[in-house]
Amino acid sequence: MSTPSITSVQKEGKLYPPPKAFQKKAHIKSMAAYRKLYKRSYKNPASFWAKAAKELHWFKTWTKAMQWTAPNAKWFVGGKLNVSYNCLDRHLATWRRNKAAIVWEGEPGDQRTLTYQQLYNEVVRFACVLKSLGVKTGDRVAIYLPMIPEAAVAMLACARIGAPHSVVFGGFSAQALKDRILDAGATCVITADGGFRRGQIVPLKVNVDDAVKDTPGVKHVLVVRRTGRDVSMKAGRDVWLHERLAELSAQGRFSCRAEDVDSEQPLCILYTSGTTGKPKGIFHSTGGYLTHAAITTKWIFDLKDEDTFWCTADVGWVTGHTYVVYGPLAIGATTFMYEGAPNHPGPDRFWDIIERHRVNVFYTAPTAIRAFVKWGDEHPKKHDLSSLRLLGTVGEPINPEAWLWYHRVIGGARCPIVDTWWQTETGGILISPLPGATPTKPGSGTLPFPGIVPEVVRKDGTPCDANEGGYLVLKKPWPGMLRGIWGDPDRFKKQYFGDFPGIYFTGDGARRDPDGYFWIMGRVDDVINVAGHRLGTAEIESALVLHESVAESAVVGRPDDLKGSAIVAFVTLKGGRSPGADLKEQLRSHVGREIGSIAKPDEIRFTDALPKTRSGKIMRRLLRELATQGDVKGDTTTLEDFSVLEKLRAEEE
Ligand code: WT7
Repeated sequence: MSTPSITSVQKEGKLYPPPKAFQKKAHIKSMAAYRKLYKRSYKNPASFWAKAAKELHWFKTWTKAMQWTAPNAKWFVGGKLNVSYNCLDRHLATWRRNKAAIVWEGEPGDQRTLTYQQLYNEVVRFACVLKSLGVKTGDRVAIYLPMIPEAAVAMLACARIGAPHSVVFGGFSAQALKDRILDAGATCVITADGGFRRGQIVPLKVNVDDAVKDTPGVKHVLVVRRTGRDVSMKAGRDVWLHERLAELSAQGRFSCRAEDVDSEQPLCILYTSGTTGKPKGIFHSTGGYLTHAAITTKWIFDLKDEDTFWCTADVGWVTGHTYVVYGPLAIGATTFMYEGAPNHPGPDRFWDIIERHRVNVFYTAPTAIRAFVKWGDEHPKKHDLSSLRLLGTVGEPINPEAWLWYHRVIGGARCPIVDTWWQTETGGILISPLPGATPTKPGSGTLPFPGIVPEVVRKDGTPCDANEGGYLVLKKPWPGMLRGIWGDPDRFKKQYFGDFPGIYFTGDGARRDPDGYFWIMGRVDDVINVAGHRLGTAEIESALVLHESVAESAVVGRPDDLKGSAIVAFVTLKGGRSPGADLKEQLRSHVGREIGSIAKPDEIRFTDALPKTRSGKIMRRLLRELATQGDVKGDTTTLEDFSVLEKLRAEEE
């Protein structure tokens, strides 16, 4: 764990007060109201969250709002509910029955809208298909789909029967998919014949075929027809969704009641990178997670019934779970989904979508914003973006230049920006402005959501002074927090509660300014944020050393204008192998196959040896300096062999 240091002091410019219109209509209408509520929630978080939980429909109410013995939290103990019931059934009894739940656009331009009634029908039918394939409460289901409505339908269908889902991002390779299927012990995989991305077809079914060769636990692969492309279907194992639906429909009416699910039962598993070579299966609960998702969607995105909300994340990431599917549907909002790339067929695709669908609230990542800046103002300027009233960002610190561009060019200087800090592990947003209350500062996530107690501390756990960089911790449990790492309770405890006993450590460095605003300074562990996606350096290293030519490797992040971090791999080769451009390309594709394209190193440097400590630990800090600044100025006293550094420097020149 490296010590957070303020390298480029984020400048504090002008304050952006919430626009008047928001102060009138938002849930929290002033800073005074926020402070009052925060203070109350600080004293008794459980009572704040219990009030939020009452907005959901419970089949059976809980006996205890919260139970906490670090590291294990339980929320709404003894309560029973169903996520799919909360997102669908309960809206059917209201005027929202015929309101659009999902508005979708495919990359080729095809469109679909599903009202709450229609989405309910689809989910019930899908749940019946799952049951016909033998999926039961508690079974794990892997979902490997493009961004099509069926992705949300599949998730809700799993939730309906109480089968935890593990959605795997469609950009992951067959190998990565296989690892996740095995770790979760999934018995069923849901995929499609492909998906559209940049005009090409992503061969999802081909990857699944490859992955399930070595996953004996998988009994069925359910295939959605999306592209119409021919795929191979293995008799007895593979089932077309449309064919099974037709068979079931011939047998009679579809019906599937929403199971009574225990508040603490896992809803989903999401794999994310950590500091070891093996991704962690973060799992979330049912009652606490949905409570957190619903209230943050409502308050932070200020969603009104007439709004169309577009969160651009893929459902393969936690952002897609919480703010494309569960949060918006739980509160009866209209959520927009888009299948493809932001620059297909042209760099204005997003702005074109916003204009045609009159999107009101737009939530995306800084890496995307930086790409838009690069592509040029003329693309958004061609379109009428006047429907927008609120903007959001997530995934990494946003540089003030990008923030100001977003504010001016996309938001027409009228939309507040919510810079939302959270993690796969936190389930939902923890630090963010409330659009009717919080004056924003470009680059700061501002203040904690009510009921959340973050602090910046020193290595010894004592609180930092104002503007002193330190470690970001969360001092009290919250309902959306992860309940564990699938199958590995020891790693869970060590990873999150090991550095500051009994207190959740985020892995982020941060500072608090004199107004109490949080400024996130990035990861302090061996995790890098590449284009808004989290990757463990160890994971890329393990992939590299699997290659027959590689002896050893060390991977570090280097700041990148577009992607936040670029991946630099230092590689030593086995005897007799010669470095060269060819091998670099081979290694890049090799990592692409092992993990996925997002993990391909941007730069590969061959070297004779890696700098190590006397105990044999690779000194990644020195490599990071070398990759970033071209030289090493930091402390090198623990280095075992100084000549290694000299050689690396020489190779640099
Ligand atoms: C890490 C979590 C939560 C969904 C997206 C990423 C960084 C996230 C912000 C923000 C500064 C941010 C942190 C965090 N991060 N949001 N608004 N400002 N940094 O989820 O892959 O679990 O990554 O992303 O470093 O720890 P994730």
